[in-house]
Amino acid sequence: MTLLSVEHLSAGYGKLQILHDLSLSVEAGQFVGVFGPNGSGKSTLIKSIFGLTRLFGGTIRLDGVTLNNVPTEKIGAYGVAYVPQTQNVFTAMTIRENLLLAGRHLSHGDLEHRLSEVFKTFPILRERQLQRAGQLSGGERQMLAISIAFVPRPRLMLLDEPSAALSPLLVKEIFKQLRRLCDQGITLVVVEQNARSLLQLCDYGYVLREGQIVFQGAAADILADEETAKSYLGVGTAR
Ligand SMILES: Nc1ncnc2c1ncn2[C@@H]1O[C@H](COP(=O)(O)OP(=O)(O)OP(=O)(O)O)[C@@H](O)[C@H]1O
Ligand SMILES: [Mg+2]
Repeated sequence: MTLLSVEHLSAGYGKLQILHDLSLSVEAGQFVGVFGPNGSGKSTLIKSIFGLTRLFGGTIRLDGVTLNNVPTEKIGAYGVAYVPQTQNVFTAMTIRENLLLAGRHLSHGDLEHRLSEVFKTFPILRERQLQRAGQLSGGERQMLAISIAFVPRPRLMLLDEPSAALSPLLVKEIFKQLRRLCDQGITLVVVEQNARSLLQLCDYGYVLREGQIVFQGAAADILADEETAKSYLGVGTAR
């Protein structure tokens, strides 16, 4: 079943068009990576899905429902969560308060259940739940940001460079946990610079250049094809 369908999307900011006639489709339960050089429109693509850009044309549908004119503050109710690259936690609040805020629409029982799942996934957050989020390291903060998006149990999570500024070890850990979320039935669209690492865990990849999709394929195929990986992602496939 197709969960997210983007058809002939053109979008940008003000008068500036960044995405040009871009189409993609994400199956329910799929883990999709979006790659491409700086400025190619990766963030603009996921911002567009979340209602944060100006749409010039095309349609964005979630499970058949058009999201084009849904304001950002209502998109969460449709089951979409967005984790921006920065400013993705409330630093002055504790970790627990951040999570409670994210789960404010859940029943008490559901909230407790979600929190226990979060703490199982990221035990460090349980230990430090009474500390302010501003005291977390970059990696821990990223774990909290992902958890905040996960608590309301979205159908679709959009993540913008969850591995930015993390050590290689932490990158692996974060990606592994994203895979776990996906295995629990959450569909993921993840923008990444770290293509080679993500391709080892995701199902399908899209490569953007200048606001258009220039390549797509199953993650395993992209990894297996050294030339493609090199020319589109600028990475070798050797571990
Ligand atoms: N708020 C904005 N207003 C005007 N132009 C913007 C805005 N945000 C991004 N752009 C422009 O849109 C283009 C695509 O930017 P975008 O952030 O989508 O790229 P990206 O692929 O995410 O790059 P990076 O890998 O550096 O994060 C760039 O030319 C950028 O300058
Ligand atoms: Mg970006």
